[in-house]
This record gives sequence, structure tokens and C-alpha cells, in this order.
Amino acid sequence: MNSAEQKTTSYPVVNSYNEWDLLEEVIVGVIEGACVPPWHITVKATIPEKQWGFFQEYSGKPFPSEHIGAAARDLEEFVHILEAEGVMVRRPEKIRCDKPYAAPDWQCACGLYSAMPRDLLLVIGDEIIETPMPWRSRYFEVNAYRPLLTEYFKKGARWTAAPKPQLTDELYNPDYQDKGYSKDMPYAITEFEPTFDAADFVRCGKDLFVQKSHVTNRLGIEWLRRHLGERFTIHEVEVVDSHPMHIDTSFMPLAPGKLLVHPERIKTIPEMFKSWDVLYAPEPNKTIKRTLYMSSAWVSMNVFMLDHERVMVEKNEEDFIKALKNFGLKPIPCNFINFNAFGGAFHCATLDIRRRGELQSYF
Ligand code: ARG
Repeated sequence: MNSAEQKTTSYPVVNSYNEWDLLEEVIVGVIEGACVPPWHITVKATIPEKQWGFFQEYSGKPFPSEHIGAAARDLEEFVHILEAEGVMVRRPEKIRCDKPYAAPDWQCACGLYSAMPRDLLLVIGDEIIETPMPWRSRYFEVNAYRPLLTEYFKKGARWTAAPKPQLTDELYNPDYQDKGYSKDMPYAITEFEPTFDAADFVRCGKDLFVQKSHVTNRLGIEWLRRHLGERFTIHEVEVVDSHPMHIDTSFMPLAPGKLLVHPERIKTIPEMFKSWDVLYAPEPNKTIKRTLYMSSAWVSMNVFMLDHERVMVEKNEEDFIKALKNFGLKPIPCNFINFNAFGGAFHCATLDIRRRGELQSYF
């Protein structure tokens, strides 16, 4: 396709097969209403040990308002940049998460947030999939996105929800303890029913990459594999992490032939990437003072591509910005340290709804 044709082609309202085609429309999360989720084995398994006390004490309450306010300002800056770069930005509802709810077999003191659309919604081509997340506090998270999902559905998108999980006690492994990484280490969730978070997957056209984690089990991966059928292949990536949750701070294909990886968590680059250039993310900037409630500082490498070159990156990550430039990309810096507190950065905070491109194989 030549460039004139490319400009006039109009794509379905939802159309995204990879992490890098030219971005036209995106959902950016909101932080207002965020609450500290109830203490649970799946929380313990995935958040920094330093924060366990905070979570136990503030469970069910809103996060400190000064942190919410500062994160909201980061998000506004991000949205302005995206709009200035020509992207249509959509936002979920600002829902208060401090309402308790119950299912027949369990109850939950509050929800979490509507900050990370990447965690729960998976866009593959013209389909949006609501994923079966195992955190009870995230059971109704999709509600904030329902008006948008209904709109996209009316405009022709395919809309699917994976089997709604029961989230009864059988799903959890109460004896789970972090004993360090090994190939056959135990997880906080069992194989009782299929569960996965969307953010444990990254997309490269016909090939998708997934990590098994404390939120994504084998049955969850198998459900998606059968659901997507023969057009797609799902490959499991070995990530050396004893508290895995979300692959996008470990393994991130940035553009055709360009792979970003965590220098310690990815020991072996999967064979199919042998002809790709690999960038090992530099250490997160140690001079930055930060609160990280829910993740490691490696959210620094959680970048977001606007096309094959333009990449959204944290303004203070100077070494990383240099490395991205040397890697042939065009970094767009944005303040995001305050948002990072809530467990993610640009890739987590977004869901690319429409990119200009078709289904392809890159291998
Ligand atoms: N668990 C990762 C870490 O601590 C953070 C993953 C963030 N990704 C996301 N989609 N929320 O490094």
C-alpha cells in the first residue's frame, strides 16, 4: 500500500493488532476514585513487600488525595501531549471505588481504580475482550468503560467477555509464599477456572506473547488461544520474576525488528526474535524520589508507541531517553512519576483502540 492509499483507507472503529502502528484513538485511564484494595493473597504476591503494611492498614479506603491529585496532573499532561500529536483521546467514567459489594460466596470492601485500561481490556483487531481478572477488587472495573464499549459496539466493533470467573476460594492458593523464581514455582492462583489480565499479553500481529503470572493461569491462556483460533499464535515467554503480574515491564516489542526487555527478567530472548534488535532497558533513575504502591521502579520501561518511532517516556529517565534515541526512536518525554505510584506507566494507562494497520506476520 502506498502512502496516499494509506491515508485514505478508513479502518474499523476498533482496529489494533500490534503495539506500534500509527495511533488514531486511545483510551487513557483516570485516577480519581482509586481505593486501596482489600488485603488478599493475590495482592500480597504482587505488590512490593515495603507496601504490605500500608495495604493492610488502608484497605477499603481511598488512596491519599495528594497522590491522586498529583497523578491526575500527570495524566492531564499525557493527554495534552497525545492530542497535540494528533491522537483522539477517550476517558472512562470517574467511578468511586469505595463501595463494598458481594457475590454469593465472597465479599469485597471496595474496587481498585479505572486507571489502567491495559490491565483488563484486550484489543485484538476489531475485537475488544473483557478479561477474567482474578482480583476480587477488580470484578466490576469494566463498568467505568461500559459507555465507551457500548459506543464502539454500536459503531461495529466486536465485543466479547471471557467466561465470568466465580472467584471462589478454590481459585486461590492460601499457602502461597514467595520462595524466589523457578520454572515450576507456585502461584497465588490455582487452575480452578480460566483467569487472566489483558496486560499479561503483548501483540505482534499474528503472534501474541504472554507470561504466566499470579493473575494469568494456564486455563486463561488456553481460553484465549481457542477463542482466537488459527489466525493467531500465542507464545509463552519465560520471565524471571517471582512476583509476575503484567508482562509490559519485562518484555515489550516496540516496532518491527525492535524489542525492549528487562535486563534481568529476560534471560533468553525467544528464538523467533533472533533477527530483531534488542534494547536492554537501563536501570530506572535512582535519584528520583518516588512512592511505588503497587510495582517495582521498572515501570520506567513501560513506554507507549504512537507509531514506529514516537515513544512516550518518563521525562526524568534520562539514560533511558538516550538509549531509546540510539535505538532509532523519537522519545516524547512526559512527567509521569506521580502516576507511577499506582503501578504502571504509559502502556498500562492506555488502551489503543485504533491504529492504522492490518493483521500481519512479523516473523
Ligand atoms: N508488575 C510489574 C512490576 O512490578 C508492573 C506491571 C505494570 N503493568 C501494568 N499493565 N499495570 O515491575
